[in-house]
Amino acid sequence: MMRVLVLHSDVPRDAPADELDTLITAQAIAEALEERGHRAHLAPFVFDPEAIRGLISEHRADAVFNMVEAIFRQGELASVVPTLLEKLNVPFTGCRAAPMALAGDKPLAKRLLRLRGLPTPDWDQPPFAALADDRRYIVKSATEDASLGLDDGAVVMGREAARARADGCRETYGGRWFAEAYIEGREFNVSVLEENGAPRVLPIPEMCFHNWREGRPKVVGYAAKWEEESSESLNTVRHFISEEDEPALCRQLTELSEAAWRLFGLRGFARVDFRVDEAGNATILELNPNSCLEPGAGLAAAAAVAGMSYADLIEHILRAA
Ligand SMILES: Nc1ncnc2c1ncn2[C@@H]1O[C@H](COP(=O)(O)OP(=O)(O)O)[C@@H](O)[C@H]1O
Ligand SMILES: [Mg+2]
Repeated sequence: MMRVLVLHSDVPRDAPADELDTLITAQAIAEALEERGHRAHLAPFVFDPEAIRGLISEHRADAVFNMVEAIFRQGELASVVPTLLEKLNVPFTGCRAAPMALAGDKPLAKRLLRLRGLPTPDWDQPPFAALADDRRYIVKSATEDASLGLDDGAVVMGREAARARADGCRETYGGRWFAEAYIEGREFNVSVLEENGAPRVLPIPEMCFHNWREGRPKVVGYAAKWEEESSESLNTVRHFISEEDEPALCRQLTELSEAAWRLFGLRGFARVDFRVDEAGNATILELNPNSCLEPGAGLAAAAAVAGMSYADLIEHILRAA
């Protein structure tokens, strides 16, 4: 039996769906831990080391389940939480600070992947000197991880359109925006768990786009991710691929996920997002060291196919910590 402090983002009750998700997940994790005979206490994160130290000692926590995805509603700040927990000498779930921050800066993460020889689509940052006029690009936030600003308009043709889109997004949302070569083809979200200090790739789902209008970009955008009743959400459906049917593809995705995990020094759990082009070459879109742990979301669904219940998954992540 362990005493576990489930630390979550301090989310206002009227926050948008992508933020409320953290609260629902923290609650589900606490229930799963209790189901396993652990003692779980939920607490919102406060940006005050002494207060966190106080929470840990008050609850005599053996470990912290880190579900802090944002501070002051900013995901970019979440990496200070592992920094703080490390200093307080308490075991905590998931990724350390530096890999979290690094993966959270997509262009920088892509540079690292390239340096290691791992595939990721071509990209450029403003003023986009390297972009071509006759190529399709997707304009994305460098640091947001919730598909903010991703809708059909994010996929553009050529440098001028990319520049206009990036300028518009910067005005609307703030932050840094970059353009990445748009990869037509299949999408896969590979969930990885830490097992005996090594990455273990779970069964792999393809994200399938149903009833998609001809020519509409296949993008898992904000609506598909967060607006449950939207047609985008209802029509982006997970299908697990089988190793028997597609051995080469499974091997490729598995090896690349393991290599990326090792390169970034990930821990606990993560998800790696891929596109596979029409020639069958997989390319890494991004790494999510803080991937969603909500029951029914990608990681939990992949764990279920591997025969792990939600409580098994949560216990596994706790034990890795
Ligand atoms: N280079 C790309 N080519 C094609 N689709 C892309 C590309 N980059 C992103 N997408 C689409 O946008 C979605 C979100 O992009 P991603 O980089 O994973 O950011 P997020 O952090 O918002 O998940 C992906 O799941 C995919 O559907
Ligand atoms: Mg993604």
